[in-house]
Amino acid sequence: MLSSLRKGVIQDLLPTRADDPPASEMKVTPENLTCLLGISSRLFDKTVHTPPLVNADLRPPTLVSVPIRGFRSLQWGTVSDINKTASDFAIQFIADTELAVNRAIVEIHKLILRGLPLQLECVFSGFQREDRRSWIDFHDGINNLRPALRKQVIEVTDPGDSPWMVGGTFMTFLKIAVDLQVWQKLSRSQQELVVGRHKLTGCPLIDDLPQVIDGQVQPQFITGCPFSGTIPANPGERFLDPAKASNRLVVASHIHRANFNRGDDDQSANNRIYRQGYEFLDSVPGSGISLGLNFVSFRKDVSTIRNILSIADWMGSVNFGGVTNPDPIIGEPPPIPLMSILAGGFFAIPPAEDPYPGFSLFQ
Ligand code: HEM
Repeated sequence: MLSSLRKGVIQDLLPTRADDPPASEMKVTPENLTCLLGISSRLFDKTVHTPPLVNADLRPPTLVSVPIRGFRSLQWGTVSDINKTASDFAIQFIADTELAVNRAIVEIHKLILRGLPLQLECVFSGFQREDRRSWIDFHDGINNLRPALRKQVIEVTDPGDSPWMVGGTFMTFLKIAVDLQVWQKLSRSQQELVVGRHKLTGCPLIDDLPQVIDGQVQPQFITGCPFSGTIPANPGERFLDPAKASNRLVVASHIHRANFNRGDDDQSANNRIYRQGYEFLDSVPGSGISLGLNFVSFRKDVSTIRNILSIADWMGSVNFGGVTNPDPIIGEPPPIPLMSILAGGFFAIPPAEDPYPGFSLFQ
């Protein structure tokens, strides 16, 4: 059904009577719809599925659920019941319009109403801003896995215990609420030190002692930065991916903690992940809005993201970024509690296969 939808064909609009118009006239615009199927550890759980749906021995060893206690400094939020749901599958739809994504969800709902033995647990929506910024106003996605090494870093190549995953990858999805009240209490300079980039241009901090003027730490940025409001096509590596820093303020920033070693993308110790997140804005009846980032990342194993979120020098000792020093100098940004998890999961993403991804797992 989804393959047809990607060609603009809606099942219920196919001609069924002799005098119906031809199928070609009933086509809709697919809006570049893409569909990604993810399989969670729950599918392999014999205590949940009796009799088992798949061979439990085929579960990739690193595929687990998001810890109930959350990660070391990134905890579950309390505003939602959604985090209590667990699913066997996740499907990510991306399209040029909201309609095309919603249509795919409703077409699945219709299949279920017709007897497909599945239940829709929940739907998370989101969108990318045209200026490529997140709700904290900084550009997000400036530094990501280089295209040339991307496949090498995210693609499963070792058949190990899960030959059905060769050619696939693993997705981490974390719906992360951002507390803008906390964020806005920081001065612009503090925000820049916490992120590690210039707020307007996205240029990285230089690895030097910041100046202190009127008791405020003033961040300093790489000169000659080619960025302005938008990110140019080839800005140069030192602007995208600054070298490993030694100044403790710079090292404590989000971009340095999330990529602490700043070494080659393909070395496993460097914990590189391919991020493809996008923003969300939800209505919370009675208390206004909830907003944040649908953090979506890919890697050939799940442990990488867990390393980033648990090793102290990385993001293990802070929620987002900031200096943990018990004796901070004036103006040093504290490790602010900015993020909490509203929903999330780790998913195996099997490779494309006929007639659907993951087919061989079910044989
Ligand atoms: C609401 C949550 C988050 C926000 C608003 C956010 C925002 C940002 C921003 C503004 C940047 C700098 C732009 C860039 O270099 O791409 C960045 C970089 C990055 N973030 Fe986050 N982030 C969030 C959560 C996370 C989480 C949970 C992780 C990992 C577990 C993460 C990993 C990274 C990485 C790896 C980089 C690139 C660092 C580099 O290589 O220079 N972020 N993020």
